[in-house]
Amino acid sequence: MQTDTIPLCDLKAQYASIKDEIAEAVGAVLESCAYIKGPQVAAFEAAFAARHGLDPFQAIGCSNGTSALTVALKALDLPAGGEVILPSHTFFATAESVLLAGLVPVFADICAHDYTIDPSSVERLVGPRTVAIVPVHIYGGMADMDALSEIARRNDLKLVEDCAQAHLATRNGRTAGTIGDAGTYSFYPGKNLGAYGDAGMVVARDPAVAERIRKLVDHGRQDKYLHDLIGDNLRIDTLQAAILDVKLRHLDEWTAARRAVAERYDAALKPAGFKVIEPPAGSAPVYHLYIVEVANRQKTLDHLKAQGISAGIHYPVPVHRQPALAGMGLKCDGDLPTTERIAGRIVSLPIYPEMTEAQIERVVEQVLHIAI
Ligand SMILES: Cc1ncc(COP(=O)(O)O)c(C=O)c1O
Repeated sequence: MQTDTIPLCDLKAQYASIKDEIAEAVGAVLESCAYIKGPQVAAFEAAFAARHGLDPFQAIGCSNGTSALTVALKALDLPAGGEVILPSHTFFATAESVLLAGLVPVFADICAHDYTIDPSSVERLVGPRTVAIVPVHIYGGMADMDALSEIARRNDLKLVEDCAQAHLATRNGRTAGTIGDAGTYSFYPGKNLGAYGDAGMVVARDPAVAERIRKLVDHGRQDKYLHDLIGDNLRIDTLQAAILDVKLRHLDEWTAARRAVAERYDAALKPAGFKVIEPPAGSAPVYHLYIVEVANRQKTLDHLKAQGISAGIHYPVPVHRQPALAGMGLKCDGDLPTTERIAGRIVSLPIYPEMTEAQIERVVEQVLHIAI
């Protein structure tokens, strides 16, 4: 029997569910012709800030998650060439942003239970040149911000949270992005809160830092033709802000649906002996991705593909082994054993809010066919 392919993430189903609201929001921007810095930008920034318990000026829309992290680091005025500790197990952009900000990435290992940066590895890497830590709330689960904040405080380091995969995740009652000096977000279409193109956001604790970020994304402007910083053009489009403002209103229901899918996977796969994400007590991950470890990944991917199930690998090549960084002599915490071990074992299963019970069943059934 030929069945439909189950995608990793179903953007079409989501669009269909909010089509009329989107048409109205987009139509309003098109009619107004305020394509750059239209009122929808400030409205979305204010709504996003409010969801984080912040003031409107503390949230700054920008062009994507990479520029968000780059400007956040630049705005903190760190000494050029300073070392920034981050996990190697992340999307390349995290390290790229560090380099684009004129800083030097240093790679920490991750915790085996939830794949977030391991505070004890960070501790081993702190040295005289360290200026900041960039934890990544990978797959939608927050890193141990209590431990990382303590390391940052003790060593006078800045802390910038890469929240590209963790919109409104919480741990011990605190929301991703609001603990460090800044939090940065991607609204890449497949993210939990996704634009219809590229977009991003920075939230910053200190008003002076927020003001610098606002300038850095808009040509260092103090006024229309008066520039007191060398910035760039990294603004968020009005159209994307209008779309995201609509979608933000649905984020809680979508997150609840993602959690329900993850719960179903957990209930089926854990008793069968599969290693999946194990969120620590007190954390409420938002399940951007659902990860299962397998012994024979290629066989698993081939099997799922043959059964019409899309699967992914996030990420097959750790950042410290990327060709672009070869020869730079970047430091790592030893051989990064957990990072290296899981890179060959992880598989991302389909997870999206619109997933049906039948689709979940089909994925579970096929994964259970796989030898661990
Ligand atoms: C962890 C992480 N950091 C940074 C980024 C970069 O975001 P963007 O693709 O919007 O530039 C992404 C998303 O792709 C990501 O997953």
